[in-house]
Amino acid sequence: MRVGVGVLGGGTVGGTLARKLLAERENIAAKSGVELELVKVAVRDLDRERPFPAEYVTDDLQSVVDDPDVQLVVELMGGIEPAGDLILRALAAGKPVVTANKALIAERGPEIFEAATAAGVSILFEAAVGGGIPLIRPLSESLAGERLNRLLGIVNGTTNYILSAMDADGAPYADVLAEAQRLGYAEADPTADVGGGDAAAKATILAGLAFGVWVGADAVHTEGIDGIDTLDIEFARDLGYCVKLLAVAESVNGGVSVRVHPTLVPLDHPLANVRGAHNAVFVEGPDIGDLLFMGPGAGGGPTATAVLGDVIDAARDLLAGTRVAPRIKLGEGSVVPFGEISSKWYIRLEVADAPGVLAQIAGVFGEHGVSIMSVWQDGRGDDATLLLVTHDAPEAAHQAAVRALDGLDTVKQVAAAIRVISPEP
Ligand SMILES: NC(=O)c1ccc[n+]([C@@H]2O[C@H](COP(=O)([O-])OP(=O)(O)OC[C@H]3O[C@@H](n4cnc5c(N)ncnc54)[C@H](OP(=O)(O)O)[C@@H]3O)[C@@H](O)[C@H]2O)c1
Repeated sequence: MRVGVGVLGGGTVGGTLARKLLAERENIAAKSGVELELVKVAVRDLDRERPFPAEYVTDDLQSVVDDPDVQLVVELMGGIEPAGDLILRALAAGKPVVTANKALIAERGPEIFEAATAAGVSILFEAAVGGGIPLIRPLSESLAGERLNRLLGIVNGTTNYILSAMDADGAPYADVLAEAQRLGYAEADPTADVGGGDAAAKATILAGLAFGVWVGADAVHTEGIDGIDTLDIEFARDLGYCVKLLAVAESVNGGVSVRVHPTLVPLDHPLANVRGAHNAVFVEGPDIGDLLFMGPGAGGGPTATAVLGDVIDAARDLLAGTRVAPRIKLGEGSVVPFGEISSKWYIRLEVADAPGVLAQIAGVFGEHGVSIMSVWQDGRGDDATLLLVTHDAPEAAHQAAVRALDGLDTVKQVAAAIRVISPEP
């Protein structure tokens, strides 16, 4: 049975999807019983060369959504508008929608899910987190019966590439970023990646999937990797850790915490082995135990493959007269304020190596209710470096202690403060 597919966007992902739809038509029909027919692909630049025949190209986005031959719409143009309104228009017309647009889902997810539910059609977004990694379907279906404890995600390939290269080569952040841009792993404007915004959008989606709580990307506590010094990556390695940018969604004290920040991960943790541009999400549950989803988090081939899986799913349901309920079912859960989150910290202090300094520093931690797990000194005299790892203590206590340390005469600089992954909640 035939389903006409209209694609909004014919770039890295949309172009590959269009090529695959044409090349794999018979194979897909044999495997799934659905005959997917590419109808049109909307782009901005009609003259650009594409990996599919020019006869499919149009620059009229709306005509693709409204075309009676198009029964299913795939949005791969990116951005918030006009993508969001085009998706709502397709849903209102009873057309299922597949998208890879994490920024849009993070910003307008609940509204889009409601529109899909009201129209009785599917909205699928497998490629929005983790690119080619099958993740959203397993989380929403296979693990639907598990009360998950925590998700730890390396969900931004650019930052993982940069941190891995800093670790492997000992090169400074700025040099590695420039090299990543030259190789195409980082955008000319890398802010969304290195500042953590992209990971925050994905963290919002992961938290919605795992806990049914919606935390808009703007409300996710977000720190990027632009302040990470290669020296701390080296010291962390000496202490048995590597540095990763983690998106964390966890159940804490009856609520949910969602955050993105650089984190020290023990070298024997599965996430420590996720290097380069790869993505991975580590899922912890009381009965399932630990699961690791890992693979290519971006790229035309992997992402288009995940999108195509959604297209086949949605087309099958359309033909059967059913629909896939929105993968995210929002409930009543609450968000735990960031200051209440407990974790260990790694702190690097540049200090004068004078008698009583250590006691003074320990006193400051004690006053704020933070206990020290280990201390390590590098160098002597005026160039001494102290590395401390604390025990679990609330975020607010750690921040107050760091402010107080900064005010001590004997502490020349709090050079780094990075959270350390905590044991399972
Ligand atoms: N690339 C990845 O590896 C990856 C991974 C996961 C998710 N995603 C998501 O997938 C989506 C697409 O990403 P991409 O990398 O394929 O982007 P891209 O290469 O920049 O392609 C965007 C496409 O949309 C078209 N377009 C954009 N705005 C338009 C407008 N106003 N009118 C008409 N056409 C317009 C562009 O036309 P022109 O070609 O004429 O410029 C281009 O064909 C994004 O939401 C992204 O976040 C991408």
